Amino acid sequence: MTKKCLILYSSYTGHSEKVAERFKSTFEKNDWECDMYKIRRKAEDIYTPPYDVNDYDFLCAGSGVMSHLPYSELLCAIRYKIHFHDPRISLKRRGEVLEYLKDPLPVSLPPDKGPLVAHKKIVLGPDSKKAAAFVTYSGCEFGPIEAEPALKLLALELGHLRFQCIGQFCCPGKYLDDPMPGTYFGDMRDRPNENDLLKAEMFIEDVLESMAERPA
Ligand SMILES: Cc1cc2nc3c(=O)[nH]c(=O)nc-3n(C[C@H](O)[C@H](O)[C@H](O)COP(=O)(O)O)c2cc1C
Repeated sequence: MTKKCLILYSSYTGHSEKVAERFKSTFEKNDWECDMYKIRRKAEDIYTPPYDVNDYDFLCAGSGVMSHLPYSELLCAIRYKIHFHDPRISLKRRGEVLEYLKDPLPVSLPPDKGPLVAHKKIVLGPDSKKAAAFVTYSGCEFGPIEAEPALKLLALELGHLRFQCIGQFCCPGKYLDDPMPGTYFGDMRDRPNENDLLKAEMFIEDVLESMAERPA
């Protein structure tokens, strides 16, 4: 049966979308079906998206990096699928608000949906479905290590969804339109460029090869 991949992503200036599109064409070149879904800062994308991650064999999740983290709507869309409660409840505990979600915040968790008191150990292994995390980022000060917190957080959340993250991909994406001399990557105004996208393609080829070598 044809295997299916879902790419969830969020992108404001199109950089992560370019990577997502290259991932998709690489999966399809390898005879996978592949759906892409762009998560926007909209309640419906977070609470009632048209996909079910459980319908897929492989999951990719990625976005640009903002303040060292993946975009909040991507995290919220994933977390809603993990906890099935409003992601703003957890954020409120940290004193954070999401202005783009306008519905009134539920006062408390519905009694039958109290996952916060039902944490369970998760063990991911050879039988688990697989996933990959990706980001585009500017890394002005330190370069590639600036992508790490976002990639690691996405990998963790994919794990909560019971998808084992077996690969993390990042490539530079220009920060606004400034040539920005003196930054780690220097002038990034053409990034991600074709070479970056070729690396994205090779990354997926490697992921597919590693899964073929270690079938579940
Ligand atoms: C407001 C803002 C904040 C950003 N914060 C970071 C950051 O903390 N670290 C980083 O490496 N890049 C940062 N960037 C650069 C973006 O992550 C980069 O441009 C990315 O490629 C954008 O992806 P997108 O076009 O898919 O939205 C920031 C960009 C903007 C506009």
